[in-house]
Amino acid sequence: MTARKKIVFSTGAGVSAESGITTFRDAEGLWEKHNVMDVASHEGFLRNPALVHSFYNARRRDMLATAPNDAHRAIAELEKDYDVYVITQNVDELHEMAGSSQVMHLHGKLMSARALDDDSLTWKLTPDNYETTPETIIDGHHVRPDIVFFGEAVPMFEPAVELVAQADIFVIIGTTLSVYPAAALLRYVKPGTPVYYIDPNPAQVPHGVTVIAQPATTGMRTLMDMLRK
Ligand code: OAD
Repeated sequence: MTARKKIVFSTGAGVSAESGITTFRDAEGLWEKHNVMDVASHEGFLRNPALVHSFYNARRRDMLATAPNDAHRAIAELEKDYDVYVITQNVDELHEMAGSSQVMHLHGKLMSARALDDDSLTWKLTPDNYETTPETIIDGHHVRPDIVFFGEAVPMFEPAVELVAQADIFVIIGTTLSVYPAAALLRYVKPGTPVYYIDPNPAQVPHGVTVIAQPATTGMRTLMDMLRK
């Protein structure tokens, strides 16, 4: 029996776009309407925590109103034939909702709160009780969104690099590849590993990457056809 191939996905906001979640840098994207350094940076949180809580409460509300799309589902279904790992920059949990069993969140999770005084303490928020404010106290701790803000370390980066280095196939979906260190993952594939990039408006990528310039849902169908050949 041959070992199953390991396929590693690196996903960004574009994989959730067809679920109705607004991306960050497209026209009408979140960073046109909000100042990223006010709502998603370490300094912004210190300056005005109420604004940051309210920004993430709105993102939670948006996420709870959506469902996974065919791209999330296709990735999950590949588990029948491959060892599938998803490394996502997204803070939504649509990959898990679609059935993916191995999902690593580089930038944290929306439906989670973290103790202000202890990074190791987190609590799952629920659809009935997800709003947080600077006054929220859980088990005696003031909390913050469990999000990696700009200006903070990305603790999951090293484990993500290890996964990418073991990939037999690496697939990037729906990201401008503009936020580091996530954008650097591509550098860690083994030489000769097939790399695909699905994005209707792809960023510049190194020679040798197969670009599928399509939305995530149709792009995943194209990829599956390519993998079957
Ligand atoms: P961006 O908003 O920078 O990029 C979204 C990408 O999705 C673009 O390349 C679009 O072309 C693509 N896209 C749009 N519609 C698509 C579709 N239907 N299918 C596939 N792709 C589509 O989002 P990210 O690259 O994910 O971090 O942003 C990275 C990080 O920047 C985020 O995790 C967030 C943000 O600031 C934090 O907040 C910490």
